[in-house]
Amino acid sequence: MNLYNFFSKIVQKLQGNIFNYTHLNVRGSKKHLNPVLLIDRWERYHRVITSKTKNHFKPVLSNKTVFELGCGPMLGWGPLVLFLGAKKFIGCEPGFQKKATFSKYVKNNYFRKHYNELVSNYGNRMSFNTFYKKLKNSNILKTADELDKIKTCIQIILSNSVLEHINRNNLFKTLEKIWTKAKKNAFFFHAIDMGPHKPISLQNWYKKNIKKQILLNLLRINDFFLLIKTLNPTRIYLVVYRSQCINKKSVAKMWKNYTVNNLKVKTGFIFGYK
Ligand SMILES: C[S@@+](CC[C@H](N)C(=O)[O-])C[C@H]1O[C@@H](n2cnc3c(N)ncnc32)[C@H](O)[C@@H]1O
Repeated sequence: MNLYNFFSKIVQKLQGNIFNYTHLNVRGSKKHLNPVLLIDRWERYHRVITSKTKNHFKPVLSNKTVFELGCGPMLGWGPLVLFLGAKKFIGCEPGFQKKATFSKYVKNNYFRKHYNELVSNYGNRMSFNTFYKKLKNSNILKTADELDKIKTCIQIILSNSVLEHINRNNLFKTLEKIWTKAKKNAFFFHAIDMGPHKPISLQNWYKKNIKKQILLNLLRINDFFLLIKTLNPTRIYLVVYRSQCINKKSVAKMWKNYTVNNLKVKTGFIFGYK
């Protein structure tokens, strides 16, 4: 760990907020400054879905308004969708700090790299200046409630590793708010990480009852599926991406009501059309 990473971790701890994307936190993060990860994730997820469903669910981005919940400090898939032709990007990120995201450092050390990588992957579709201007014209909201201020309707809804972090009292409200702003037949895609968010297996995590959790809502994949289903989508699909073997005999009481099929899912994709 270099000195920068070390101090940014201390600052994060003192602030008591793991999703506080100050310039210091963002600069100190190898993960945040790696654009290749975002492109690879986008392509990989669609490859997984295509291989498991034998269907092609990759959304057509051209001229679409794309919304990403919990997009993170580097606007998540925003740069990619804008480069690939989306008309508008609306991000929602409580930890967003405009000064950090649009700093000179991040422009040169992230967005420029991201642009070069996008060109290498998809061809030269626009200049860096046009790309960066599109990014700066994006709407970044602190909460989904702020969608009330936006006039445009959403045509594509995305999230990656976010729904598991929204507390149970807010989750449905958040999804419903996005839903009401989405056009008929809008495409939605949520990648949800049901893992322990620490380096232990699901089986070991399930061994104890977990009393207090501020980071995770501890819902399992079918809870998310049923919740989204109550919004009445015209089509809804579940694809299990990563799973682990679970022995139901050694799971603690709080997990007992879940089936093995539900407990074994580590990462799942829930997607479909409004
Ligand atoms: C694990 S991070 C994932 C960030 C990014 N999507 C990625 O895949 O790298 C979870 C993100 O969800 C955001 N988040 C948590 N609660 C949220 C809420 N109620 N609405 C929107 N975003 C939220 C956090 O601020 C954080 O950026």
